[in-house]
Amino acid sequence: MMEQLLSTALVGMRSTTQLLAASWPATLFTALVGWIIGGYLYRSIRRPNPSEPPMVNYWIPFIGSMVSFGMNPVQFLQKNREIYGDYYTFLMFGRRMTYCLGVDGNNAFFNARLADANAEEAYASLTVPVFGEGVVYDVPNHMLMDQKRFAKGGLTADAFRLYVPIIVKEVEDYFARWHEPSGVGNIHEAMAQCIVNTATHCLMGREIRAMMDDTVAQLYEDMDKGFTPLNFLFPSLPLPAYRRRDRAHAKMSALFQSIIDARRASTDAPPDDMMTALMNSHYKDGRRMSDKEVGNLMIALLMAGQHTSSATTTWAILYLADRPALVEALREEQRKCLGDDLATPIAYEHLRDMRLLDAVVRETLRLRPPIVTAMRKVMRPMTVAGGKYVVPAGHYLGSSPALTQLDPTYFKEPLQFEPTRWLDNNSATADEEETAGDQVDYGFGTIKLSGARNPYLPFGAGRHRCIGESFAYVQIKTILATMLRLFDLAPGPKGFPEMDFTSLVVLPAKPAQITYRRRQ
Ligand code: HEM
Repeated sequence: MMEQLLSTALVGMRSTTQLLAASWPATLFTALVGWIIGGYLYRSIRRPNPSEPPMVNYWIPFIGSMVSFGMNPVQFLQKNREIYGDYYTFLMFGRRMTYCLGVDGNNAFFNARLADANAEEAYASLTVPVFGEGVVYDVPNHMLMDQKRFAKGGLTADAFRLYVPIIVKEVEDYFARWHEPSGVGNIHEAMAQCIVNTATHCLMGREIRAMMDDTVAQLYEDMDKGFTPLNFLFPSLPLPAYRRRDRAHAKMSALFQSIIDARRASTDAPPDDMMTALMNSHYKDGRRMSDKEVGNLMIALLMAGQHTSSATTTWAILYLADRPALVEALREEQRKCLGDDLATPIAYEHLRDMRLLDAVVRETLRLRPPIVTAMRKVMRPMTVAGGKYVVPAGHYLGSSPALTQLDPTYFKEPLQFEPTRWLDNNSATADEEETAGDQVDYGFGTIKLSGARNPYLPFGAGRHRCIGESFAYVQIKTILATMLRLFDLAPGPKGFPEMDFTSLVVLPAKPAQITYRRRQ
């Protein structure tokens, strides 16, 4: 069999050579084709190492499966899961990526020991140039855990009570520019702006928000352009976008420093916001956060929430635009919470009672999670699949709860947008039974270890679990509730958009439009 395949390849190479004449480019071309075909055939017939996860075959050396993965990672992972099972490896731009899928795979990935699998080795090249030094993946994991604790100190229920009216006002002000009584609007552009305005106002403070319309917006955009798959593969290149990214970071950092200086010099009571919380934070060893770290962590928090929350809010509105009955049920829910004339302003307490609205956000995150894959670098050989495989050091470990979120084992009619599925069962966990020793505190609050063996994980799990979930819910629910008061919605002329996988966060493909009619 092997001999037959190799002789077919050789005959093919020989006839290709004859066709192209015996010049050196033809020889080079033939050698290349022979190398590619020979490599593919060799990998097809080679006996795999049974202790390592199976390897997805590929045609082009080094590039491997990059193109098919990049075009639609969820489809790629699902297709190969059907062939190889829950654990397999593929090559992507010279890196060996081993994915852990299914609920056990989610658990293996998110609860991996720190010594086995490390996030900073996987993410730092992308994040450090944008966030800056001394924070998140530029510091040892125990410092990141401290920093997550500090940030949580600015995300309390008391802070949320202050944030809700700020968000309502920001959304009303933004949509004043949709002054026609009806029309077609670019909803993704609108939501990206509403999220950045509300996040800067709530988390960064009024000083930064006041500069948002000119200085900060441009700096933000230049930093954001440093967050692309190209930056992930090449952290620094002599390109204008890279230089703009670095300049923007330096200016933003200086801006935060000037605000910190002004706040320290002032005798007024400091505002109750994230910056104040961070300025008074101390690491476990007693050291206070430096001003530079405060500024850089503020940048990191702003960037972490921007595309994730704006994509989620956009998808939610696109789903609602297609479902007038659901919109009516949501308005009825508002009337129940706020009174028939809706005269009471929305407050944090009302949001908590809006369970159907909550379910809309949950269901949106199930079908359109903005982060479809998370990554770690394997630091020492790591056993997975109950001991069946050992993942070698140097591989990247990947996880995609997006797959279990679409799995019919856990979700009836998984492709349907059906928020009411969350009203009966709020946890979505088939086996979320707490066991002894299940609670763990990595430094930023207690979480359940068993939480990672869960089909629904849009905010991740374990030590790298998102700390922005509660803020994101407050922000997204307030924006949606306000939108439903302002407008009647219908789909845009181009219909429901496809998913765009070309950026690191999954966004709605352009144009993401809705048709709106202003309500009285
Ligand atoms: C981590 C999703 C909003 C701050 C994560 C992770 C996910 C996620 C999946 C885990 C990544 C990993 O394990 O590699 C989301 C979604 C959001 C959202 C879907 C909105 C819908 C926010 C917001 C903030 C934030 C608003 C800040 C206010 C963070 C931080 C981490 C994190 C600090 C921890 C990173 C780590 O420990 O490595 N988020 N996020 N996120 N997120 Fe979010």
